[in-house]
Amino acid sequence: MIRFGIIGCGSISSAHAKAITGSEKAKLVAACDIIEEKAQKLAEEYGAEKVYVDYMEMLKDPDIDAVSVCTTSGLHGEMCIEAAKAGKHIICEKPIEVTVEKVNAIADALKAHPVKMQCVFQRRTMPLAIAARKLIKEGRLGKVVMASAYLKYYRAQSYYDSADWRGTWELDGGGALMNQGIHGIDLLAWMVDQKVTSIYAKAGTLARNIPVEDTAVAILQWEGGGYGVIEGATTVYPGLDTKFEIVGEKGTVSFGDKGIYTWEGVDEELPKPQEAGESIGGSSGAQNISLSGHRILIDDLVDAIENDREPMIPVSEGRKAVELINAIYRSSREKKEVSLSVD
Ligand SMILES: NC(=O)c1ccc[n+]([C@@H]2O[C@H](COP(=O)([O-])OP(=O)(O)OC[C@H]3O[C@@H](n4cnc5c(N)ncnc54)[C@H](O)[C@@H]3O)[C@@H](O)[C@H]2O)c1
Repeated sequence: MIRFGIIGCGSISSAHAKAITGSEKAKLVAACDIIEEKAQKLAEEYGAEKVYVDYMEMLKDPDIDAVSVCTTSGLHGEMCIEAAKAGKHIICEKPIEVTVEKVNAIADALKAHPVKMQCVFQRRTMPLAIAARKLIKEGRLGKVVMASAYLKYYRAQSYYDSADWRGTWELDGGGALMNQGIHGIDLLAWMVDQKVTSIYAKAGTLARNIPVEDTAVAILQWEGGGYGVIEGATTVYPGLDTKFEIVGEKGTVSFGDKGIYTWEGVDEELPKPQEAGESIGGSSGAQNISLSGHRILIDDLVDAIENDREPMIPVSEGRKAVELINAIYRSSREKKEVSLSVD
């Protein structure tokens, strides 16, 4: 049994609590929030014995093997670093931090204190995404000429007003892309499995009263020569199906939360997953996000701990979308094409 404590008992914490209590090899022992009632409520609801208001105190608890970091995005780094120092394994919500420098600091801490860390990008567990990645890897689509993601969410001003960290550079790290679109940006880059070598983007605040972007478009150059587009927004009522389009010389796959749009090979029938899986959702509101992905990621972390292997989404993977999104912001700010290093 791996014994978990949850740090941050807000909206996403119940997904972690459900995943931990639903797993045969995990147990929820503690909940921590600076607002004690929130920790108390989560603990009562999911049967955790202990409640903390100071996460540093929780990290001293010898009955805890691993922590779920579910706090405000810009606090993830310091909490992951302190957890690693305390010898606790980690599962951390997206984005694992809001700048590449802060992500690198987590990676450095893990080198010094080798605990296991899982990053949460639950869309990577979608059967359609797994199937699309496999087709591309096997060369069944041929050379990828276009790979794009359309990430049109709706979050009203009241969403941004609901907590003082939402829509801030320091603690949310950005807006429509760093908070919502990051799931699709991560998934697109993971499926294509190529680096982006340059980005030209526009990101602005067109409709909300926030300092960060609510609407963004970016043109991508993939390492293999293909182009791509990312459209990301929280201004699109009522929130559209998030959609991916990957076009190769030998065929096209396009799908969204609702299922397949196009899955066609030029010369062959492309294999489809038997099950489309549960819709991940979330474009119209965070309350609609499916929870099955968190369960898979918790189980995978437990298995990685038991078998001393890398978890499914290590920090090197959690870093990629943070790097792309910050490059989009830089291109927009500097009004020029930004090159990314390819090593
Ligand atoms: N994977 C997903 O689909 C998904 C969905 C929603 C949110 N998230 C991510 O989860 C994180 C939390 O988002 P949320 O919507 O639950 O936010 P939230 O504001 O509802 O919850 C954050 C909680 O952290 C607590 N907190 C803040 N500082 C703390 C500290 N120092 N110690 C302990 N607790 C502290 C707050 O009191 C609050 O209860 C964000 O990084 C967000 O990007 C992921």
